[in-house]
Amino acid sequence: MFLVKLGGSVITVKGRYRYFRPKAVQEIIGELKKKGEPFVLVHGGGSFGHIKAKEYGIPGAITEVRKMGYSIIHRDMVELNQRIINSLLDNKIRGVGVPPASFNGDLEKITQAMKEHMEAGLFPVSFGDVYINKAENRFEIVSGDDLVLELARVLRPREVYFLTDVDGIYDRNPKKHHDAVLLRELNDTATFEHVGTDVTGGMLKKASTVRDIAGLGTTVYVLNGNVPSRLNQINSKNFIGTVVK
Ligand code: ADP
Ligand code: IPE
Repeated sequence: MFLVKLGGSVITVKGRYRYFRPKAVQEIIGELKKKGEPFVLVHGGGSFGHIKAKEYGIPGAITEVRKMGYSIIHRDMVELNQRIINSLLDNKIRGVGVPPASFNGDLEKITQAMKEHMEAGLFPVSFGDVYINKAENRFEIVSGDDLVLELARVLRPREVYFLTDVDGIYDRNPKKHHDAVLLRELNDTATFEHVGTDVTGGMLKKASTVRDIAGLGTTVYVLNGNVPSRLNQINSKNFIGTVVK
């Protein structure tokens, strides 16, 4: 079994509210299917999550205004999830959405539900989502990356793949620095700049999550979701991406 995070930067256009990229998703699912092995998916929010989260100030204390934001963001995330499930079904893959908000963002419970779906021969698909933090009277956001870490801990996948819109982890932001160098293996020289609308930490947080997963003994690949054929070149010399062991 393998575990895949579909980054919001691949499945949506991050700067355009609710702009889905159906072709990118279809192509990725086509490559995952070729692997001929069960998988668990987690997807990010992209422009279905971050734009409204920023606009409404979520995460933040519960207020009347934020209640509206919470409802809108969860609605948008479920819609994005349904589009991915539709893509899976188009490929005859039995995808089932598992929304974190329904479990109050409790990572253990979400993971248990994912596990049970997997054991029943289904393909669970969870995502970054809003949730209620009752103890502190706040609305929070769980990122898809946090979920992947917990799932890796419990499900012990053979490999984990993070797909974003760049070739992997570079020594600095490749969108700003044309001379940025792709790191074939993650080391400590990388620097990360914050990306405008991201409310969950961007590449900096991702790099630390990836290290944590590798620390469990699972190899992690960070690769370009816009060139999904690379998912099937992982063990070849020609593979382009960052490997974290
Ligand atoms: P996703 O939301 O798809 O999971 P992010 O948008 O959080 O991914 O992260 C990908 C983005 O991180 C890239 O588009 C890139 O511009 C930015 N970035 C910043 N620093 C780096 C770096 N050192 N290496 C790779 N990408 C970086
Ligand atoms: C964000 O999830 C979810 C919301 C903002 C509601 P992620 O942090 O996993 O999303 P991406 O991959 O960065 O877009």
